Amino acid sequence: MAKIVVNATHKGGEGKTTNSIILAEYIALVLGLKTLIIDMDPQANFSGRYIKMEYDPSYKGGKIPALHPDYEPLIDKDWDGRSSIANIFYGEEVIPYPTSIPNLDLLPAHSIKLQEAEAVTKNDVVEKVHLQLKRFLELEDVQNTYDMVIIDTPPSKGPLTIAAIKAASHIVIPAQMEQFSIEGIYGMLQLWKQETYCRAANNPITLVGILPNQVRDIKLHKQFLSGLRKGKGLGDYVMPHVIKKRAIYTEILVEDANPKSIFELPVNHVARNEYETACRYIMEKVNHGEKKGVRN
Ligand SMILES: Nc1ncnc2c1ncn2[C@@H]1O[C@H](COP(=O)(O)OP(=O)(O)OP(=O)(O)O)[C@@H](O)[C@H]1O
Ligand SMILES: [Mg+2]
Repeated sequence: MAKIVVNATHKGGEGKTTNSIILAEYIALVLGLKTLIIDMDPQANFSGRYIKMEYDPSYKGGKIPALHPDYEPLIDKDWDGRSSIANIFYGEEVIPYPTSIPNLDLLPAHSIKLQEAEAVTKNDVVEKVHLQLKRFLELEDVQNTYDMVIIDTPPSKGPLTIAAIKAASHIVIPAQMEQFSIEGIYGMLQLWKQETYCRAANNPITLVGILPNQVRDIKLHKQFLSGLRKGKGLGDYVMPHVIKKRAIYTEILVEDANPKSIFELPVNHVARNEYETACRYIMEKVNHGEKKGVRN
């Protein structure tokens, strides 16, 4: 089975998107595994990194993916030529886009379709949203094509985030070392635990860990980090490595950045080293580590 890592926290701006991109590129570029990255966030923050996103007035200014490179208007009469992860909620075909990164395919967001998918009634939400991503990722075609799937989620505990958690085999919670961020971690742990109890023993959802992000060399961050590590019931889940606040993590993610990926920087570059160490840790957990998983 392909391993499915979801980056989630309902608090905004913690590093879900940054971590999704860098982890996916590590797996595809450095490990050479066939990887699918999915943008489940109506903000469509990273879809535009890999393909052109357009603003369609008929979609009230929301972002929609560009035409798919395989689209042939004369042949594909029943297809509008665009594909996004939102299609799974409408019973439509889903066709990932290739990216310029070897081994990395993308399922982009579709702002309005994702938002509208969430707007179902409470009675329908489980069947029409919560279970749809899991079902899609279990398709034989997807399983046969990809070794790893990385999912970015919106800053909420809404149906799209729940759908991602229901589909996931592993979860990473990025968090800044600040008060509200740490409060947010508890909310996510609660979601993870709830999901844990719904799972069969042979289908666990493993918490890889809390990834301290945007850490600065200041007293406040040091205090929160050490408090978190010592925290009863929480300390075990904090990853051993931290990601510091560095401008390069923002700069390298812009569309025309050169080099385009952290993993095209020299191997001894401090930022590459730092993130690569964290990615290696995540992958070790994904491949072997059920130690801090469910039912413990
Ligand atoms: N380690 C870091 N150092 C410097 N800047 C960072 C770092 N991590 C993330 N950022 C920047 O912080 C901002 C928020 O990060 P990001 O978009 O990854 O968070 P998010 O959790 O996905 O946010 P949202 O909840 O809005 O989706 C971005 O501008 C990103 O470039
Ligand atoms: Mg984001």
